[in-house]
Amino acid sequence: MTDDRQRAWAAAGEAAAAHVQDGMRVGLGTGRAAAAGIRALAVRVAAGLRCTGVPTSAASTALARELGIPLGRLRGGLDVAFDGADAVDPRGLVIKGAGGALVRERIVADASARFLVLVDAPKVVPTLDDWGTLPVAVVPFGAGRVAETLSDLAPARRRGLSDDGLAILDLHLPPGSDWAAVADRVAAVTGVVDHGLFRVDLGDVLVGRPDGGCDPAGPPGGAATIRG
Ligand code: A5P
Repeated sequence: MTDDRQRAWAAAGEAAAAHVQDGMRVGLGTGRAAAAGIRALAVRVAAGLRCTGVPTSAASTALARELGIPLGRLRGGLDVAFDGADAVDPRGLVIKGAGGALVRERIVADASARFLVLVDAPKVVPTLDDWGTLPVAVVPFGAGRVAETLSDLAPARRRGLSDDGLAILDLHLPPGSDWAAVADRVAAVTGVVDHGLFRVDLGDVLVGRPDGGCDPAGPPGGAATIRG
C-alpha cells in the first residue's frame, strides 16, 4: 500500500477522532482506516479525553486495548462510530466487509447516533461496479446451500470463519446490477446473516487526503462532490 494512501487514511482517522467528545461511547470499526482512527483516538485519550470504545473485531479490540482506550460492551446506543469502507458511490451506497467484520459493523452502525465512514479518494467510485463484489456472512452449516441459491452471482467462499464463526461468501455482481435490489434478494435467503451493502449520509463520509486534510464526500444528505 502506498504511503499516500496510508497518509490519507490517517487524515480521515484524525478527523473522525476529533468528533469524539468527553464521555462519549464510540463504535470502533475494523480495517486500516478504522485502525488509523483508533490510533488518533488513543492520542486524545492519552491527553485526557474520557470515552468508551466498542470494537467490531478481535483485531480492533486488541489495538484499542494496547493503546489504552477504555472498552465496553454494546449496551444501549453509541454516540458515534467510525469505520472504513471498500467503496462508496454517489448515492451513499457503501460496500463493507473485505475484512469480514460486516455483521458487527452493521450492529455498531445501527446503534450509533452518527456513523462516520473513513476512506481516501480512490474508494469514492462512480458506481459500485468498480468494486464488483458483495460480501455475505452466512451460517456455516448452510453455506453450501446459500451458494447454490446465489450461483448466478458466482459466490466465492473465503477460507476460515469470521470472529462470529460465520462463513463469508463474496458475490460477483455483473456490471449494471441494481446493488440495492441484489442486497435485498440476498438478505432474504435462509442462512444469510447479513451482507456488506450499507447506506450512509455522504456528509458523514470523511475522505482523507495525503496532505493531511480531509473533506466530506458531499453535503449532509446531499450528492457526492468528490470522485476518486
Ligand atoms: C471490515 O470488515 C471492512 O468493512 C473494512 O472496514 C473495509 O474493508 C475497509 O478496510 P480498509 O480500511 O482496510 O480498506
